Amino acid sequence: MENNIIGIFSGKGGVGKTTLTVNLAISMVQFNKNVIAVDTDLKMSGLGLHLNMYKFPTTINDVLSSTKNLLDALYIHSSGIRIVPAPVYAEDVDTSRLKEVLANPYISNSYVLLDSPPGLEKNAIDVISACNSAIILTTPEVPAVTDALKIVDKINKMNVNILGLVINMSDKDSQLDDEEIESALGVKIIGKIPFDKNVRKSLSFRQPLMIYNPYSPASVEIKKIAAKILNEKYENEKFLIFKRIFKGIKK
Ligand SMILES: Nc1ncnc2c1ncn2[C@@H]1O[C@H](COP(=O)(O)OP(=O)(O)OP(=O)(O)O)[C@@H](O)[C@H]1O
Ligand SMILES: [Mg+2]
Repeated sequence: MENNIIGIFSGKGGVGKTTLTVNLAISMVQFNKNVIAVDTDLKMSGLGLHLNMYKFPTTINDVLSSTKNLLDALYIHSSGIRIVPAPVYAEDVDTSRLKEVLANPYISNSYVLLDSPPGLEKNAIDVISACNSAIILTTPEVPAVTDALKIVDKINKMNVNILGLVINMSDKDSQLDDEEIESALGVKIIGKIPFDKNVRKSLSFRQPLMIYNPYSPASVEIKKIAAKILNEKYENEKFLIFKRIFKGIKK
């Protein structure tokens, strides 16, 4: 059986891939799944920083260069996700072996999320080859959607299944509406994450958003995306707590 490897891709940089990877991974853990987030953005690694984890004796670099095993580069975060970090300062790294490295049978019971570099450089192409499904992320602006189209084309050509499109900062003064973006990219929207000031606040508190504020608007939308991907039912936990309290009172 193939490992369940999902790449998070964007054409343009800075649209929210690392934020989505980290918080989607935590949401999936909250649905009782084993999840590993891998930093495959080797030139501009950021996954560790989003999780307030900095010092790693072994990284994906050592695994790609065959000096270490993938399991040596697995670290656990207090949220329950495991991560495979990239080094903070990467020299020249060859990502050609990424697919082979992630085909490790010891992680076959986990969902593996790949935080990818933006664009279509060789590093990004190796990430596309390594995954068996993809999520496309864009903001609702013409330049971001135009660049997303290039990556969608490439992913389609490489026969990787696209799970859907996520629009981040969806309430930005948008030049494009949902239907226009869907038809431009030929991909269905599976989630819309609003601009949420808690995203930056959570970073300054050195916590992932999903831990800092699980009910903030972006958290709720990311949880809904996780439910869709996992085919689980999304229930608003805030209401569940009230439901339980009222049930208790009624008795
Ligand atoms: N929904 C959101 N609301 C507000 N700010 C956000 C949101 N999503 C991401 N951001 C902010 O946007 C910036 C870029 O996010 P992030 O680092 O996740 O993007 P990226 O696509 O991984 O970037 P890169 O291409 O450089 O790797 C960060 O400062 C982050 O806090
Ligand atoms: Mg990033």
